[in-house]
Amino acid sequence: MCRVMVFIGKGEILLRDDFYISQVRGLMAERAGRPPAAFVRTYGCQQNAADGEKIKGLLARMGFGFTDSPDSADLIVFNTCAVREHAEDRVFGNVGALKNNKRRNPNLVVAVCGCMTEQRAVAERLQKTFPFVDLIFGPHVIHKLPEMLYEVLADSQRVLVLGQEERFIREDLPIRRDGGARAWVTAMYGCDNFCSYCIVPYVRGREKSRLPDNIYEECRSLIKEGRKEITLLGQNVNSYGKGLEEPVNFAQLVQRLDGIEGRYRLRFMTSHPKDASKELFDVMAKSRHIPHHIHLPFQSGNNRVLREMNRRYDREKYLSLIQYAREVMPDITFTSDVIVGFPGETYEEFQDTLSLIREVEFVNLFTFIYSPRPGTKAAEMPDPVSHQEKTRWFAELLKVQEEIAVKNSQKLVETVQEVLVEGRDEKTGLLSGRTAGSLVVLFPGGEELVGQFAQVEVTEARGWSLRGRMAENH
Ligand code: SAH
Ligand code: SF4
Ligand code: F3S
Repeated sequence: MCRVMVFIGKGEILLRDDFYISQVRGLMAERAGRPPAAFVRTYGCQQNAADGEKIKGLLARMGFGFTDSPDSADLIVFNTCAVREHAEDRVFGNVGALKNNKRRNPNLVVAVCGCMTEQRAVAERLQKTFPFVDLIFGPHVIHKLPEMLYEVLADSQRVLVLGQEERFIREDLPIRRDGGARAWVTAMYGCDNFCSYCIVPYVRGREKSRLPDNIYEECRSLIKEGRKEITLLGQNVNSYGKGLEEPVNFAQLVQRLDGIEGRYRLRFMTSHPKDASKELFDVMAKSRHIPHHIHLPFQSGNNRVLREMNRRYDREKYLSLIQYAREVMPDITFTSDVIVGFPGETYEEFQDTLSLIREVEFVNLFTFIYSPRPGTKAAEMPDPVSHQEKTRWFAELLKVQEEIAVKNSQKLVETVQEVLVEGRDEKTGLLSGRTAGSLVVLFPGGEELVGQFAQVEVTEARGWSLRGRMAENH
């Protein structure tokens, strides 16, 4: 069933929310026979992670505690990603496996949300294939979670709520953050770019920027409570500000945020090369808190492929941005996203991607084999190269990048780096953290350093990661 909800005054909405929150609190406790526990699994990008934190915030308000195991949960939420077929297949597999949980515990509530559900065919398939899924909802209606859960619990009906993009951004949703010393802060929602391979604009809707004051206040309070790294999020942060009454661009926004007092790092992602500006690099160069690192996805090094991808920049423009950034910040590092095997890409064109990688020398790359997404323009394009062949190109790319990564890591040996300690590396038991340039360093140290900055002398470069020890005299 699909329901239509009408936007009413804000005060009324908050009142209604309170009603549903207290109803769900009661109904859920009754159903579980104890304070209910939720298992929330988020797939995909940081935007989705930020949504997951809002979902958890709302659930906490409704009286839920949280568990790491679906087996001990009274509510299971899968917050899904649609960006590649593989990501979707994993979700279908994992949701399918919940059939047994539901059989063991008929009171279990199962919800599937996130980007996958915004593709009508996928939502229908989820609904048909998994009759034990009680609630399916899209990313635009997270704020309605109390009401939707209420309908599931009170009326014992399956609920499907999709595709209702709000004109206004709800600023009052509680957030239960997971990231320890690090925090995500959404700067803008949606994407208007329609890169020809990408599903995101279809499932996330149009770009909407949050007001600078709201972002500022959120960052300020996070820093005040001791967070050490803030990452501003948006699919294309460089087009921040479009549609706001107050004219403000992304460079101006980060410059303002950089003025917040405290010891912290301010990062952002993702930058789109078509909109990344010299002004932004100038602000980074002068800033006190923005590390000299930028994630700047190039996707392909070949101009014909870039045109077909609808990226709206060319190789020369990309390289000129890199050059300018290096002029104003000689120590800057770059990471990027690359797609191998876009429809019609030839081996010669793929070689342009390799040459760009060699030219820029990224410290890290996120590499993907092209995955057709139904409904996108690229999914209709002839794609004659076999998957097997693309896999060979992919392996060739990884080899090139590995050599570069090792070289970049070796440059840091015997230097002292400021590292934000994120936790312990499971394999080695060593502390693990990131340099300003976004390289991982492992080093021995006590638990008290987790979530703190440490000065670490790099002693060894091992492939992707660095080894080090606490620096003396720091
Ligand atoms: N907004 C970001 C990217 C978000 S999606 C940007 O424009 O840079 C993250 C990455 O997934 C993309 O950069 C791209 O490299 C990859 N990706 C997106 N759609 C894909 C597809 N259909 N097949 C393979 N990789 C894809
Ligand atoms: Fe997708 Fe392009 Fe938007 Fe990034 S900018 S989310 S790749 S459409
Ligand atoms: Fe992110 Fe995946 Fe959605 S990459 S925006 S969660 S499709």
